[in-house]
Amino acid sequence: MTTGHLRDAEPRDLDQLLEIERAQFPEPWTRGMLLDEISQRDTRRYRVWDNAGEILGYAGVMFVLGDELHLNSIATKPGWEGAGIARLLMDDLVEDARRRGVARGTLEVAVSNERAQRLYRHYGFAPVGVRRGYYGASGEDALIMWAHFDDTVANDS
Ligand SMILES: CC(C)(COP(=O)(O)OP(=O)(O)OC[C@H]1O[C@@H](n2cnc3c(N)ncnc32)[C@H](O)[C@@H]1OP(=O)(O)O)[C@@H](O)C(=O)NCCC(=O)NCCS
Repeated sequence: MTTGHLRDAEPRDLDQLLEIERAQFPEPWTRGMLLDEISQRDTRRYRVWDNAGEILGYAGVMFVLGDELHLNSIATKPGWEGAGIARLLMDDLVEDARRRGVARGTLEVAVSNERAQRLYRHYGFAPVGVRRGYYGASGEDALIMWAHFDDTVANDS
């Protein structure tokens, strides 16, 4: 188990979040976009895994119409993949969503990103369709996935 703890993302984290964004995404968010996302606390929830001040991963959701969430972003710091950090973040986000009465969640993921898709399947997300050319830089298609939290249980399988 990785040491550290989960907490809300804060403006002081922006440098580290940007570093992870730039390393992990072909079209990384800018500092302004990240700040905007983490600041909208009424409709967003961004969490970081903080290991003695070093952010090893982060993830954020947007709440839509009260009972639905959209997974906006999830990424682990390069070199820390496979240590269970994304699972810790997803556990936290899905548990919180259930407490809020959020019934379902959706996300887009590159069709080639099997690692992320495998992670999402653990939380009941299943593919329902494709958005053609969703990723501007590569022109790659996105898989649209949905989960119904009321009839799925996060587990360690
Ligand atoms: C996808 C990502 C967030 C997974 O984060 P992670 O911290 O490595 O994931 P975890 O260690 O919690 O493992 C979660 C699951 O991911 C998969 N996974 C993790 N490491 C893997 C590896 N080296 N090879 C294949 N699958 C792997 C597995 O399904 C794993 O669950 P399991 O081992 O319990 O079956 C991370 O690889 C990442 O930041 N990728 C780049 C950004 C990205 O693609 N984000 C998603 C955009 S939609």
